[in-house]
Amino acid sequence: MNAMTELSFIHRFKPATESGRPPLLLLHGTGGNEDDLLPLSNMIAPGSALLSPRGKVLEGGMPRFFRRLQEGVFDEEDVRRRAQELADFIAQAREAYGLSAPVAVGFSNGANIAAAVLQLRPDALAGAVLLRAMVPLQDPPAVDLAGKPVLIVSGASDPIVPAENAKRLASLLTGAGAVVRHQMLPTGHGLSQADLTVTRAWIDQL
Ligand code: MLT
Repeated sequence: MNAMTELSFIHRFKPATESGRPPLLLLHGTGGNEDDLLPLSNMIAPGSALLSPRGKVLEGGMPRFFRRLQEGVFDEEDVRRRAQELADFIAQAREAYGLSAPVAVGFSNGANIAAAVLQLRPDALAGAVLLRAMVPLQDPPAVDLAGKPVLIVSGASDPIVPAENAKRLASLLTGAGAVVRHQMLPTGHGLSQADLTVTRAWIDQL
């Protein structure tokens, strides 16, 4: 596993150890970094290539993937700019490491930027697992997500993401043609064992 800084994001890359599995793009939550989701990825997709960037925006020293005005209220101009920047990084990394389009696995802020990339640069991702995601853009552009697989896993008692907001995201992506599975777990914002089980089963059937 290498920490690399040559590309446009500080990141880690781990080559695949099994063929036939899609590469994963790991996107951490607020205050995380490129190491955060590596242990989780071993549980949900052992053997997959891993690409794990660190968000470039700092909020009180905590890395994020875009700016927010307050919890749940996003600086949407920044969301748009950062989604483009991340999609450009994915393209660079695919070239540098010889990867096919990755499936994003994002948690919280990382899930929100992944949803924005789906809406703004759909070709950057082969699919996405959005853990505790919410609607990133109130007025997204029309996009064609025809057949793209998306798993959204929400917490029924998540104090940060209202269930209605997660449902709205699911219907926005479904309306754009994505094949969305939305699973509501009896939990809060933090990840649980059930998240890993659901995600692993979903990745296995890709
Ligand atoms: C966000 O800012 O993306 C969401 O509020 C989730 C979070 O990172 O706390």
